[in-house]
Amino acid sequence: MQYERLVQWATEVWQERWPDREYVTIWASAECSNMIAQNQVRAGRRLRGKARFDGREALDCPAVVPISDYGSRGKSTVLMATAGAYAFKFSVPDEGPFEVIYASSYFDDDVQDLTAVAVLPADKLETWAAFEFACARAVRPRIRRRRDVYIIGGTDAFFDPTVDWEDVILPDDLKNELLEDMEAFFSKGVDIYRQLKLAPFRKLLLAGVPGTGKTMLCAAMAKLAIEQGRIVVYVSGSDRDGASFEKIQRALQAVTAARYPVLLIVEEIDAYLHEDDKARVLNVLDGVESPNNPQGALLLATTNYPEVIDERISKRPGRLDRIFVIPTIQDDSHAEQMLRHYMADQWKDEHAAVVAQLIGQPGAFVRESALHARMLAAHMHSTEVTLELLQQSVDSLLRQLRASSDFLARRPAIGLTSGNNNKKPSQPSRYPFPPRR
Ligand SMILES: Nc1ncnc2c1ncn2[C@@H]1O[C@H](COP(=O)(O)OP(=O)(O)OP(=O)(O)O)[C@@H](O)[C@H]1O
Ligand SMILES: [Mg+2]
Repeated sequence: MQYERLVQWATEVWQERWPDREYVTIWASAECSNMIAQNQVRAGRRLRGKARFDGREALDCPAVVPISDYGSRGKSTVLMATAGAYAFKFSVPDEGPFEVIYASSYFDDDVQDLTAVAVLPADKLETWAAFEFACARAVRPRIRRRRDVYIIGGTDAFFDPTVDWEDVILPDDLKNELLEDMEAFFSKGVDIYRQLKLAPFRKLLLAGVPGTGKTMLCAAMAKLAIEQGRIVVYVSGSDRDGASFEKIQRALQAVTAARYPVLLIVEEIDAYLHEDDKARVLNVLDGVESPNNPQGALLLATTNYPEVIDERISKRPGRLDRIFVIPTIQDDSHAEQMLRHYMADQWKDEHAAVVAQLIGQPGAFVRESALHARMLAAHMHSTEVTLELLQQSVDSLLRQLRASSDFLARRPAIGLTSGNNNKKPSQPSRYPFPPRR
């Protein structure tokens, strides 16, 4: 564990500086190294009893990089935290001076909290507590309440929960059911689970062919969850480490530690179900290793390989509470709505002529057709997208899809279709779930 390096360093410094004095090692408050506290809690500050803070000396600690974290609050950029190593100096009349050897550091890329330790004389804990309190009070008004989104396996760029619910174009009943499921769970379900002495953990799966809007739906659900004061934990398998169970474990730790209700998003959950880890993932779904967050945790998982979610999961009640099939475009009105959305100000009623060709396609197809048509028009220095251009764009995209599926069907799988290193089965010829009506 990394904090042990801090403790080891602090005790060595202590023994060098105060070889004959007994000490205790404690978890300390990360705010003591914050620059805001350092500016406000200055040498000469009186603390509880007759103790006085006499100043700080910066120390070199090989395990600590002195670094500050800035975040945004409204429109302004504010200092959130500062890591560092110090000897804090105090004195108490008639008792003489003493020091606290202190170090704070970031150890985990995902849970961006400072870890801090301190070594000090056992009989000076009260003075130290008063000092920590003064530092915390100096910093706290400026600290954001918390992070709203924790990304496991990747940076913030991997997930952007800013999609508006209205911009996800899917059948209304599907969207409503999904939203109602989340709200019913957090508002009523959590208490019911608790009354039954069960960990409140509900599990939903979004299954659908690529490009139907699963990721978009997750982002929109996340935005709504954050607006309701919940925390989002997002697990990405797209970084270099791929889909490892260790990430799920880290996510579960974050869910358990959160003191708020959590929406846990695991994208492409099928990738975690390879032989080595499958039993452990099943344990999580079963509740054996599931997070115990008394405020409730809702798992939103996605897949485009539902056949990997075998009967052990899909037919065993309780492992996945609900499977939502995210369909391709099913009817004219849905197709037209999507097309209008992506043609935006270029929409003309005559464009509706291509609508029939969009049925059975995912949303990503419509977006690409519309974008391509608009680009063709712009390339021709035209300010309007004619039906002819749109038709040309739809046809060429359809041709391209047909050609690539013929080509891929004739070739053995060479692993180009998967974004990460995990082996996935090839796409089934027929999608196993019936389309949603
Ligand atoms: N239902 C939809 N409503 C609006 N836009 C959509 C919809 N589906 C897809 N799109 C458009 O296509 C893009 C790709 O969709 P998205 O990444 O959400 O698909 P996905 O289902 O997660 O695909 P994959 O299974 O490959 O991860 C979206 O960013 C959006 O622009
Ligand atoms: Mg996706």
